[in-house]
Amino acid sequence: MNSDFIILTIEDNGPGISKEDQAKIFDAYYKKGISIGTAGDGIGLYVAKENMTIIHGTITVESNLTKGSKFILTIPR
Ligand SMILES: Nc1ncnc2c1ncn2[C@@H]1O[C@H](COP(=O)(O)OP(=O)(O)OP(=O)(O)O)[C@@H](O)[C@H]1O
Ligand SMILES: [Mg+2]
Repeated sequence: MNSDFIILTIEDNGPGISKEDQAKIFDAYYKKGISIGTAGDGIGLYVAKENMTIIHGTITVESNLTKGSKFILTIPR
């Protein structure tokens, strides 16, 4: 592990996110199919990514449609 960064992971056991959607969920106003019509505007992950970029960090997702999702934040110290 690179000690210049703090690695923060946030995991769930929700519905998971397909590879195709993983490429889109950080776009502004994007909601994937099963989320359309539910609360939220598709902005949260976009703002998270913008903020991580400003501090020279990263946010990425790993997900499996049967197991859930893991968001990984790399935060410069
Ligand atoms: N942990 C998760 N598991 C499965 N799908 C997710 C997860 N987080 C986000 N998504 C999908 O990515 C989409 C975009 O997420 P995002 O947080 O940007 O927006 P939102 O939660 O829909 O609305 P907002 O954050 O603006 O209230 C969601 O609508 C949902 O389809
Ligand atoms: Mg959200």
